[in-house]
Amino acid sequence: MSHDMPGSDARQKTRGKAATAVFPPEEQVYQSFSIDEDKARTNVHYELPVEFFKALTGGEWNVYSANTWNRATTETESQEEKLDLLGELMGLRPGMRILDVGCGWGGPLTYLSRRFGVEGVGLTLSPLQKAAAEERVARYGANVSIFERHWKDHTDDRPFDAVYTDEVIVHFNDLGGYFAKVYSLLRPGGLMLNKEIHYTHRRYAELTRAMVFVNETYGFTGNYRTLAEELTLVGEAGFDLRRVEPLSTAQYVRTVDNWSANLKTHRTRLEELVGRDTFRRIQVYLAVGRHSLKGSRVTLDVVVAEKPRVGSGPAMVAGPAA
Ligand SMILES: C[S@@+](CC[C@H](N)C(=O)[O-])C[C@H]1O[C@@H](n2cnc3c(N)ncnc32)[C@H](O)[C@@H]1O
Repeated sequence: MSHDMPGSDARQKTRGKAATAVFPPEEQVYQSFSIDEDKARTNVHYELPVEFFKALTGGEWNVYSANTWNRATTETESQEEKLDLLGELMGLRPGMRILDVGCGWGGPLTYLSRRFGVEGVGLTLSPLQKAAAEERVARYGANVSIFERHWKDHTDDRPFDAVYTDEVIVHFNDLGGYFAKVYSLLRPGGLMLNKEIHYTHRRYAELTRAMVFVNETYGFTGNYRTLAEELTLVGEAGFDLRRVEPLSTAQYVRTVDNWSANLKTHRTRLEELVGRDTFRRIQVYLAVGRHSLKGSRVTLDVVVAEKPRVGSGPAMVAGPAA
């Protein structure tokens, strides 16, 4: 979810016509934390009860990111439609091996594994998510392994055909380091896919009170960027850019509307589970995100890049002969 949101700030100080928002360092975006701290902070959100998130996200696969609604009419269909798109963009074929960094409750990877006949490995920082994902994998008999592990700690003795992130890199401060890690985990010719919200200009990363509220929801691990910044880091890691697929933010608005409706439907039980304050916080969080997605300051994009094959030829296109 995006945390860009207009709004007045109680701590805004006005000097003449210029207004400067003052927020303490601990509330800032783009903070760098240790692996243990990344885990503790993101788990402020992801260690809420599994039942809460299952009710919130709905559908068969409990996807906690934007789904698409081109032909879909139900939550399960919209989740599968989006996952089919990601699978096609990664060129998945039976026998391939893929890594889902930030695998949530294992729904996306279980679906992709069965739909495309691939072997899956998933990483999460949340013990509750890991247990829920493993239960799902066993229920479907999917060829998937789940690890409670930071991407920085993941090593593998076999290369991957594709590595993907679906609305996860917001939590990564060292995005260049992440792309370098993915590069090292892929086979030559393997694909990296990232779907994320992007600012349309760096100026929109400036803190507002609403942005601080959203960033606090996931332990101040917010790192949204522009697409240009992301693509620069993709290139610096050595990837060849293959495709940038824009998705309509209206798709995300519809996804969020479903989540909000789910909260309303299950309100009594969910308030019991997480308490009224947390329930209310998530409602406001979704409303802030929806407002942002309706505006013009963010886009939703899928970036696909390839680890070059060895001896794949000159990078420069030859000019006309002199
Ligand atoms: C918004 S959820 C997205 C889940 C899933 N991709 C989906 O679309 O349903 C973010 C996920 O990223 C994981 N995550 C955050 N930081 C991580 C890190 N440094 N290493 C591995 N996983 C991380 C969280 O534990 C959580 O599972």
